[in-house]
Amino acid sequence: MTRTAAPARACIIGWPVGHSRSPLIHGYWLQRYGLAGSYTRREVQPGDVAAFLRGMREEGFVGCNVTIPHKEAAFAAADRTTTAARAMGAANTLWWEGDQLFADNTDGLGFMNHLRASAPRFEAGGRLVAVLGAGGAGRGIVHALLEAGAAEVRLFNRTRERAEAVARHFGARVRPCPWEERVERSRDVALLVNATSLGMHGQAPLVMPVAHLDPACIVYDLVYVPLATPLLAAARERGLLAVDGLGMLLHQAAPGFAKWFGVTPEVTDELRALVAADIEGH
Ligand code: ATR
Repeated sequence: MTRTAAPARACIIGWPVGHSRSPLIHGYWLQRYGLAGSYTRREVQPGDVAAFLRGMREEGFVGCNVTIPHKEAAFAAADRTTTAARAMGAANTLWWEGDQLFADNTDGLGFMNHLRASAPRFEAGGRLVAVLGAGGAGRGIVHALLEAGAAEVRLFNRTRERAEAVARHFGARVRPCPWEERVERSRDVALLVNATSLGMHGQAPLVMPVAHLDPACIVYDLVYVPLATPLLAAARERGLLAVDGLGMLLHQAAPGFAKWFGVTPEVTDELRALVAADIEGH
């Protein structure tokens, strides 16, 4: 008689975690690939992260995703970390290998993979790019763009010191720039990324005209609620290639799924429509 292993279980931890769309994404893939695993939400209080991570294998979890506010605590609790996680000092994807807990940060890779899928002819290598926002999200984008070989990343942030700290961490290819100069100093960039929370439902609007941008400039907004932000709508109106943050959300989920369930999943139009409908319904 052969014994079959118990179906793999994974989850997302956060505080709160009810808003997360990760269960929808992973649930779609589990069904699509006919896998018996599960992916659930788990509310973990601040202060309990390390204890949860240490005990999760006994609960049958092969790994987990981590969302706000636990990304730094999860990074600190891991035995092994990837280069991307170390660059950000934060982790969003964890898994066990033997007795060791591994931590990765897949936000930057998700961003690049979605950019490559949306603009196959765009090459970041040697290019001048602009990033708005030097928070956690902005840091991930800067890391990904530098890894992809960008020549210069102009980093605009309301709080200048935060952009300067990111530049100190990543080196001379990152230029901290005053927030007030974001229009003037983005005339010649090949890619403009909004990594601030501005323009998000319930937040202040992002004031960022697009008339001055190069006609070949790609505009990427990490905000995906609403799906078509005013920035993306204005870019499309001008005929620029506009890329929304939903694709990044879907692409950043793929590496974790592959680790936990053994199948590299595809970001399909059907999955995108499913998550888009969920966003628009709320
Ligand atoms: P995340 O981890 O999602 O990046 P965050 O660390 O809170 O979240 O960063 C939010 C980003 O939006 C920051 O770049 C923030 O600028 P500050 O560093 O100056 O706070 C930016 N942001 C939020 N509200 C803003 C506003 N009204 N004007 C300009 N930038 C704003």
